[in-house]
Amino acid sequence: MNRGEHSARNTAQSSYLQVQPTRPMPGILDDVLNGLMHPPRSLPPKYFYDEHGSWLFDRICETKEYYPTRTEDALLSQYSSEIIRQTLPVQIVELGSGTSRKTRRLLDACETHAHTCSYAPFDVCGEMVHQVAIELRHKYHWLKMEPLVGDYHAGLGNLPVASGITMFVFLGGTIGNFTPDEARDFFDEIRDCMHPGDYLLLGADRVKDERVLNAAYNDVDGLTAGFNLNVLNVLNREVDANFNAGNFSHLALFNRELNRIEMYLVSAIDQIISFRKLGSSISLSKGERILTEISRKFTYRELETMITGSGMEIIRHYEPVNNYFSLILSQLRKAQ
Ligand code: SAH
Ligand code: TRP
Repeated sequence: MNRGEHSARNTAQSSYLQVQPTRPMPGILDDVLNGLMHPPRSLPPKYFYDEHGSWLFDRICETKEYYPTRTEDALLSQYSSEIIRQTLPVQIVELGSGTSRKTRRLLDACETHAHTCSYAPFDVCGEMVHQVAIELRHKYHWLKMEPLVGDYHAGLGNLPVASGITMFVFLGGTIGNFTPDEARDFFDEIRDCMHPGDYLLLGADRVKDERVLNAAYNDVDGLTAGFNLNVLNVLNREVDANFNAGNFSHLALFNRELNRIEMYLVSAIDQIISFRKLGSSISLSKGERILTEISRKFTYRELETMITGSGMEIIRHYEPVNNYFSLILSQLRKAQ
């Protein structure tokens, strides 16, 4: 059953549904106008994830410094069976699914328990969703794939919703890329999509030794730097800008007051950048920063407060022995 409107993009091998926004969203021109024209300068993180950026992120996940992927994957390997037995979802909807690599643990557990369901990966990167749909259809013949492309900040009201139990999945610590207000609104929106009995499986990164955190966002091979700088290529292409990535450097540091990694692009020289599609330009002085991403780190309690604040109930809170990461299963309770 679909609640909303979709337009289909079909290709020879696969297709995905474009999820329509439920509220008007600024386009890239507005985002550049609002974010870059005046200091403090910033960009929304979704522009990292063009085809090349998504590929780079996947490589970051394999670096020795980037512990979140490995840690969350180990938790999923250990607990997927228990989670599937508990939830028996008719549909799994994953927000910001990327390569869906870790989600395969849940799908494997479905297979083990001879449980069939549908899987709706939802991501802003169409190429990635397209590729994942091909791979997963091939690997799991029983799985009903419902690939979705769109912006999760544009509202979740048009996601297709099944008539049985849905498990929403939001992994990778991506919730940390939201401001506190955005996170609260997002959990409220997920809750509004839920029927009583539906579940949310959330993966979130925890506060820890800042040397570990700083290393995770400054891998020695420079993949994170390349990922950060790639957003300049996206702007060159989409708004006809003239950024030279060689004139910027990557900076990621842990902000202790706000418990978050902050990712910047730093201008290495005094320079003028023009945006031909906007007919305007900016001057950046040497050392000036553009904030490209925040990645918040949470305490055990903060995570539970955030989830219960939206009206959901915590069912299980999994963590590894080093407390590096949380995997939390929560549920919108059935009315008694
Ligand atoms: N869940 C995966 C990927 C995490 S990276 C993992 O745990 O490894 C964040 C993912 O969110 C990327 O795949 C990116 O393309 C997607 N994303 C970022 N901003 C988005 C937005 N506004 N709407 C939908 N997806 C978005
Ligand atoms: N959700 C990921 C995180 O905050 C995204 C990410 C990892 C990221 N490394 C990055 C974003 C480097 C920008 C740059 O951990």
